[in-house]
Order: sequence, then C-alpha cells, then structure tokens
Amino acid sequence: MGGKGLLPIAVLVSGSGSNLQAILDAAAADPDFGAEVVAVVADRPGVGALDRAQAAGVPSEIVPWSGSRDRDAFTEAICDAAERHGARALVLAGFMRILAPGAMARFPAAILNVHPALLPAFPGAHAVRQALEHGVKLTGATVHFVDEQVDHGPIVAQEAVPVLEGDDEASLQARIQAVEHRLYPAVVKAFAGGRLRVEGRTVHWR
Ligand code: GRF
Repeated sequence: MGGKGLLPIAVLVSGSGSNLQAILDAAAADPDFGAEVVAVVADRPGVGALDRAQAAGVPSEIVPWSGSRDRDAFTEAICDAAERHGARALVLAGFMRILAPGAMARFPAAILNVHPALLPAFPGAHAVRQALEHGVKLTGATVHFVDEQVDHGPIVAQEAVPVLEGDDEASLQARIQAVEHRLYPAVVKAFAGGRLRVEGRTVHWR
C-alpha cells in the first residue's frame, strides 16, 4: 500500500491525458477514493498528459517505444518505470501501445484500460470513427481489465452513448469522453477498495 493505506497506481498515457486528469481530480476530491497516482508513464515526450502530471506534482517517466528492442523489452521498461515509484496497478488512459503478456505477469489482475466503444464492438485504435462508419445508433465507453488480447479482457463497466444525427468523430468522441471521465474514476475507486471480483470473463461488483 502507498501513503495512508492508498493503492499506489501508475497511469500510462500517450496523449492529452483527460482521463488522467479525471482520476487525479477524483483522488483529490474524494477522501474515500482509495488510490494514489504515484507515477505517470508516457511512451513519448511532449504530450499534454505530462503537463497535467507536472501540474499535479506527480512524477512522470518517458519510455519511448523507439528506445526498446521489441514489445517484450518495451513492456518490461514500462513495468520497471511504474515499479520504481511503487505502483501496484497500471491504469491505461489513452495509452496507444499494446503491452506484452509480461505486464500481466508482473501486475496480475491489476491492469485497467478505458476504450471508447461498447466492447466487443470496435476494438482497436479507431473505435469512434468505425462506429460512425458502421452506422450504429448506440456506442459508448468500456472499462476493462487488460489481458493478452487487444481490448479484450473482462469488462468492468460500460455506459452507452447515443449517436446523434450530424455527429462527426470529434463531437461523438467528446460525448464519449465525458462518460469516460465519470466511469473510469468510479472503476479505479472500486478496484482500489477491493470491490471487484473477476470470475472468468465476468466482473462482479460488491
Ligand atoms: C480516450 O477516449 C480513451 O478511450 C482512448 O483514448 C482516449 C484518451 O484520451 N483509449 P485522453 O488522453 O485521456 O484525453
């Protein structure tokens, strides 16, 4: 456990970090949040998420993909960076790299991800665009545990977002992200509180 009995988490980022911000804000506002962001780990320099980490006084690490021999080595470097700060769980928030199975071995049942679609629909990096192209009337946000396959592990929480007439990728993404910013901190809090139990593919909430 981290300071004051809090679960120490590392947030993995590649972009603007709005989900990171939602988690930082929840941790600051909610005395019962139960988790502390002990590190932000990015796969590239210069992203907004790193500015957010700095503003919050959270240490950050950059582990560039190009600096690694292969996916296994990259994954080990990411896990090393998180563990240097004492993290006991990884929270992927807009992290655009696929972790090798070595990460699941080092953080068993302790890696979460947020995805901008109702999985198993539209896995991968272009979920919002693909939902629009497919013409679905309902899409949404999913928070799931990470397993060896992309956007595939046991689903913890989902919330639907309607596709509106005239939506484009930006407008739909913005409404999905507003949901993510509520859903993801709630899941991290439940996880930190030991309220999630995984049984096969099913996650039970207590
Ligand atoms: C989120 O929409 C998330 O679903 C996807 O990447 C986006 C990250 O946004 N995996 P941000 O960096 O948290 O603002």
